[in-house]
Amino acid sequence: MKIIVFANQKGGTGKTTAVINIGDAFVRMGKRVLIADLDPQGHAAVSMNLETEPCVANWLMYSIFNNQPITPEIMNGWIRPTRRENLFLLPGNQMTAKAQRLLTIEDTPINYIKDNLSPIRKLGFDYLLFDTPPSTGGLQEMASWAADLAVIVSSLDFLSADGVSGFLAMLKVLQTEKQWRGKLAGVLPTFYDEQTRTTREQMTNLQSAFPEQVFTPIHRATVLREASAEGLTIFEKDIKSRSALEYEDLARRLFKLE
Ligand SMILES: Nc1ncnc2c1ncn2[C@@H]1O[C@H](COP(=O)(O)OP(=O)(O)OP(=O)(O)O)[C@@H](O)[C@H]1O
Ligand SMILES: [Mg+2]
Repeated sequence: MKIIVFANQKGGTGKTTAVINIGDAFVRMGKRVLIADLDPQGHAAVSMNLETEPCVANWLMYSIFNNQPITPEIMNGWIRPTRRENLFLLPGNQMTAKAQRLLTIEDTPINYIKDNLSPIRKLGFDYLLFDTPPSTGGLQEMASWAADLAVIVSSLDFLSADGVSGFLAMLKVLQTEKQWRGKLAGVLPTFYDEQTRTTREQMTNLQSAFPEQVFTPIHRATVLREASAEGLTIFEKDIKSRSALEYEDLARRLFKLE
């Protein structure tokens, strides 16, 4: 099972949109995918027109209150089918914030999420994708630590370079101080609009700051906003759209990265 975390401490950069659409793109490549939403806003469920229950917090808090390991049956009870074959979800909601506080109080180590992956691994997923909230904190760090790959989702819409460098600094600490084995897959520029000078400039800035680690940008597209408002992935909304091709291409690139 390959694990990918999508992050940026800035809000509204397109993290959830990327997770859902890459998830569906992987499914269309024949993979079995689980999305875990670590954001109390619960937008991953909402963007797929699903309830935000049962919360991923059940999984996050279990080992604090129980001495027995999580059985695959218990784990399965927390995983939502999404009405799409081979696409599953551990939704987020307000309970996620409580779980985050509890883990902070318990001072759980950085490897806490990684150590709790075995019941998920037993369920035969090819990919586990972590959606994260627009903030920094224990859950992002623990999810990043568990991940094989990290994708920083950076909107070209506004000055989001701070968000990129903040998350990158965290990854560097994981690498140098904690011997993180994962790697930065790259920076994903979103809301690209070649008509706008600022977005072109920001794209150039990203490329010079992260040579060879900037993915082909995702264009700003009304169809993407409409799809998430309607609870559809871009492939369900308009499989022939440029956005669908962009996410499909990105999924293929991520598939090739080890
Ligand atoms: N490329 C795009 N073009 C146009 N609209 C987009 C694009 N990507 C995302 N959106 C829309 O922008 C809004 C924010 O996107 P999204 O929820 O994916 O961001 P986020 O980074 O997950 O936000 P948060 O930080 O609050 O979790 C949503 O309404 C989404 O439909
Ligand atoms: Mg989000």
